[in-house]
Amino acid sequence: MAASRKGAKSRIGFNTRAVHSGEEGCPLTGAVSTPIYQTSTFSLKPPSKEQALPGGMQYVYTRVANPTTSALETKIADLAGGEAGLALASGMAAISAVLFTLVGSGDHIVCSDVIYGCTHDLLKGVMRRMGVESTFVDLSEPDNLAGAVRDNTRLVFLETPANPTLKLINIRSISDIAGEYGIKAIVDNTFMTPYLQRPLELGADIVVHSATKYISGHGDTIGGIIVGDEDFIREVRGEALKDIGGCISPFNSWLLLRGVKTMGLRMERHSSSALEIARFLESHSMVRTVMYPGLKSHPQHGLAKLQHQCGSSGMITFDVETQYNAIKVLDSLEMCTMAVSLGDVNTLLEHPATMTHRSLSRKERHDLGINDGLLRISVGIEDSADIIADIDQALSKVRYKK
Ligand SMILES: Cc1ncc(COP(=O)(O)O)c(C=O)c1O
Repeated sequence: MAASRKGAKSRIGFNTRAVHSGEEGCPLTGAVSTPIYQTSTFSLKPPSKEQALPGGMQYVYTRVANPTTSALETKIADLAGGEAGLALASGMAAISAVLFTLVGSGDHIVCSDVIYGCTHDLLKGVMRRMGVESTFVDLSEPDNLAGAVRDNTRLVFLETPANPTLKLINIRSISDIAGEYGIKAIVDNTFMTPYLQRPLELGADIVVHSATKYISGHGDTIGGIIVGDEDFIREVRGEALKDIGGCISPFNSWLLLRGVKTMGLRMERHSSSALEIARFLESHSMVRTVMYPGLKSHPQHGLAKLQHQCGSSGMITFDVETQYNAIKVLDSLEMCTMAVSLGDVNTLLEHPATMTHRSLSRKERHDLGINDGLLRISVGIEDSADIIADIDQALSKVRYKK
């Protein structure tokens, strides 16, 4: 089936496109699975049809483009409803490539206040040293964007649901305001995938994913993907990818191509199990608070229903009041794994204060709601009864002062 580039509004269903889009099989042998083109370079004899990149360019060198990676880029762009995609070595490689393309010394970025720890560190570290200033604001109140924009602001970067507090941001409102000020709206859609949330359809300009998570789905590779309009993707490929060089390996692209085919099935399972587990946690006497956008008690449940396609993904946070209790829960797990990362078939639990968000000061964390007793779950696809039983027995070790 020829790659569909019509976006998510195409009449062909999402899961059909997840399987077929971008995949041409092997033109020489008829192999159905897209081959792993494990090559660094390509013959520069006049290109045959098979050697032609989308857009008629020739493959030259795998740092810049590779046919296995092109298949992945075409597929994700189609699913995300964008014109073109670009895969890189990791989610952080994708985020930094977008920023290096759009900003330079003297420019300013507005970023949502609760954000993945390394994105926060990138803005406060490398980008600041390069002369780019960032302002972190609570974008769950969209009008705060207007208050933070300056003459030199080039873009707004946000994550929704936020990692790890699961606060939501109205993508359409933020994109509209960004449009009024002539700045780009960029959404990190890692927690949701194009199956559950499509920021480009809601007005965002660029979407980035850590493909390491739900796009891979199996916790066996690292990758990142950008989707945007063709001109922008060409610009990122021609400079940030070519000259900084964070390219993905053909094998990792192939693993991601394989993962995406089952993404819809997995996201439905992650979402339904997460809702069940969130309800269980909500009723548990040892749990102080639970955040899951699919719960009616989530302060922005209405926005979740508006913005999420058919589920709220597999990420839950809950509070057991103290760091001692949080670590006790993690140490007591028997089937679930204490680990950072997310989106795997395995259930993973982590403690943001000492793991993913440890670079923030205690005050910064507390101001954002990342309390010492907060735990984050990435709900896997195991039987939900087994996940609940394991968390329940771990929670039995928690003690509160009388
Ligand atoms: C929301 C979010 N964005 C980006 C990243 C970075 O992705 P990677 O680890 O693939 O570089 C992560 C990693 O955990 C993440 O959670």
